[in-house]
Amino acid sequence: MIRAAKATAHPNIALAKYWGKRADGVNQPAVPSLSVTLAGMATTTTVTFDPALAEDTFLLGGAPAGEVAYGRVVKLLDRVRRASGITARARVESGNDFPTASGLASSASGFSALALAALGAAGLDTDPARVSDLARRSSVSAARSAFGGFVELPVGSPGEGDLAAIPIAPPEHLPLRVVVAVTREGPKAVGSTDGMEHTVRTSPYFPAWVESAPALCARVREAILRRDLEALGVAAEESALAMHATSIAARPGLLYWTGGTVEALEEVRRLRARGLVAYATIDAGPHVKVLTTPEDEPRVTAALAEVPGVKRTIVASPGEGARLLDRT
Ligand code: DP6
Repeated sequence: MIRAAKATAHPNIALAKYWGKRADGVNQPAVPSLSVTLAGMATTTTVTFDPALAEDTFLLGGAPAGEVAYGRVVKLLDRVRRASGITARARVESGNDFPTASGLASSASGFSALALAALGAAGLDTDPARVSDLARRSSVSAARSAFGGFVELPVGSPGEGDLAAIPIAPPEHLPLRVVVAVTREGPKAVGSTDGMEHTVRTSPYFPAWVESAPALCARVREAILRRDLEALGVAAEESALAMHATSIAARPGLLYWTGGTVEALEEVRRLRARGLVAYATIDAGPHVKVLTTPEDEPRVTAALAEVPGVKRTIVASPGEGARLLDRT
């Protein structure tokens, strides 16, 4: 019997960063994180379990994906096969409606959409917490894209397998805008999985990061719940800079920034000095994502677009969680 399902999910941006895994090999984070899921950009994925297939196939944007991505997709499908008793191989077709080099994590929307489509196709429970836990086993940040709005991923208990994200406020709770200042086109040199592994292994500052991250995450959560965008921005910027500090201190130092990153960071500080709401966050790449209000967004975007090292800008706002589009 052929069984298929199609799902869509959005990327998310961490306001309190996850960086580093726990040592027990179950893909659980060493620190709690908190993100906002973004509207307007999505990954859409169809999973078809088909007994006629000799092996799993994975097309990304119409072309066969690389070996590493393929391996990660097969692992997720194997988990779903084990849970459902399905033995058929699957055809996975996935596409992003935003460029992968935009600095927005396509693995978060990708694994979240894949988890939901695979559970749906297998006829299993598609409760968002289950989608989140399954996506997290492939990519930790993907756990958060199962839900919309503001989403926290706590640290799990050592030795336990299950860990899902928790929605803390819906998208409309806080009128936030995220302006992405794209500072370089093309893929990043060191992916997050490798970058954080190197940091955990060699950075003398990593223990300090693990110790300080829970309090930063709590500050981000409390600021969101109070709808205090300035306090949120201050804590989010601290979290991003502390995460990068641990990587810069690794041996050899891991520097995701370019000149354009620093220019954009300086512009954010100038905007604040002019009285605008503007706080920066940076993921494992050179782009700067600026948190602001809907009122200040046009001036923040215009100022960032003038920065010589900024190639282009993308404006995003809080959005919904992963959604099943079709099941046959
Ligand atoms: C800097 O979730 O991509 O974006 O769990 O190894 O797949 P894996 O890593 P990933 O790391 C994301 C790191 C980050 C911060 C964040 O999203 O919290």
